[in-house]
Amino acid sequence: MSKILTTESGAPVADNQNSAQAGLGGPVLIQDQQLIEKLARFNRERIPERVVHARGSGAYGYFEVTDDVTPYTRADFLDSVGKRTDVFLRFSTVAGNLGSNDAVRDPRGFALKFYTEEGNYDLVGNNTPVFFIKDPIKFPDFIHSQKRDPFTGFQEADNVWDYWSYSPESLHQITWLFGDRGIPASYRHMNGYGSHTYQWVAADGAAYWVKYHFKTNQGIRSLDAGQAAELVGQDADSHQRDLHQAIERGVFPSWTVYVQLMPVAEAADYRFNPFDLTKVWPHADYPLQKVGRLVLNRNPENVFAEVEQAAFSPNNFVPGIGPSPDKMLQGRLFAYADAHRYRLGVNHTQLAVNAPKATTAQNYGRDGLGAVNPAGRAKNYEPNSYDGPRQTDRALAAPTAVQGWTGAHAAEAHAKDDDFFQAGELYRLMSAAEQDRLIANLAGSIGSVGRDDVVERVLPFFHAADADYGRRLQAAVEAIRNADQA
Ligand code: HEM
Repeated sequence: MSKILTTESGAPVADNQNSAQAGLGGPVLIQDQQLIEKLARFNRERIPERVVHARGSGAYGYFEVTDDVTPYTRADFLDSVGKRTDVFLRFSTVAGNLGSNDAVRDPRGFALKFYTEEGNYDLVGNNTPVFFIKDPIKFPDFIHSQKRDPFTGFQEADNVWDYWSYSPESLHQITWLFGDRGIPASYRHMNGYGSHTYQWVAADGAAYWVKYHFKTNQGIRSLDAGQAAELVGQDADSHQRDLHQAIERGVFPSWTVYVQLMPVAEAADYRFNPFDLTKVWPHADYPLQKVGRLVLNRNPENVFAEVEQAAFSPNNFVPGIGPSPDKMLQGRLFAYADAHRYRLGVNHTQLAVNAPKATTAQNYGRDGLGAVNPAGRAKNYEPNSYDGPRQTDRALAAPTAVQGWTGAHAAEAHAKDDDFFQAGELYRLMSAAEQDRLIANLAGSIGSVGRDDVVERVLPFFHAADADYGRRLQAAVEAIRNADQA
């Protein structure tokens, strides 16, 4: 016998094709439960999309430790070679809305949830090792400038570059974004980075500053501007299709995971601020150390339930891993769970994709919209004499020394700090052909800016990074602007 269609409360539905009417040809009856419930539920299918990174794709898999890192962290999921931990990874674009295109020039999100035996560890990174800004107070303005204009309703090159013309610290990330890696061919063919500096603490209490690198084993593949425009025209969902189909075919994407480790005592005198998110740590100073392998091998069963409702928060740490004083990271420690409470509700941590899997959540938080109250009859206050869950008295990470006065401070500058030298180094690392494409991409974008003063403010940044970079870009921008005026 075929399955019976039921209402939400489980009663059989007699007719799912014809709504009930008062007589043949008469008005529709409100007593038709199936009709009313169906229309009402349909109206409520959408939830707020993420304010950034709205468009994304997710998959499950595992992380396996391949190299011993126990001298550096006491994180349980990293405590022995061969240990595997289940993960969920969501890739995303940043600026576009849920219904935008995959193959666009934009950083890509690389948000990873490790379901460890000591709770979920979220590493919410990007496919770029650096970012545009270094203070969280700037984030809403920066994002507004990159998304749709309130009046025209579309992204405006003038807004994008107007903001950047007041943000010299963006130049390194801009150089990265307009270079070859700015449009990945797929989510499988790009690296991931934790981007921020984090803290690892070993069992003996030794603390390290750490940066994460996920190197794609599929090889880096990118699209140039022409290929991307063509692909977007053919398939808005190219990255989603590629990831989903690869996993369905049994072609499981993987990444080799490395860290850079800096003993905490070296941070104070490092030649630039090691907590500055606009800079990388040169590998010559802090070489990559292999940690493990990340493999994605299972598609979600339901995109809405598991991808749209996935909630990653940079403040979900596990013992042995903690934050650094990077101001951007500190801002993010607040922003994400707050966004989740708005977007998904206070009980988003009880949704299957977000709940711990290798352990259970045990605390005294209760109730709220959508609660399934897994704690049942257990007492809802602490301390109590009913053998309820207790604190461990063991800090997750190591304390950080602070000094000085409260107040709005710019990031601490070290001897070599400026906003341009690493953008120049990245430019000089590129082959001649890559430099040509970078200049063409940048000139195309800056050349479409209408306001002269914006162009005049932004070009000096490129000159400051590298004389050749500045000279060539200036000439290319002027050629485009002169041709437009002719
Ligand atoms: C102060 C700076 C930042 C703020 C305030 C911020 C805030 C947010 C917010 C509110 C969301 C939406 C969360 C949700 O609704 O689930 C989000 C998503 C995301 N952000 Fe940030 N962000 C910042 C910087 C960064 C940086 C530096 C990175 C990468 C290194 C990053 C990576 C991501 C990723 C990957 C997502 C998507 C997570 C997912 O797949 O659900 N963000 N951000």
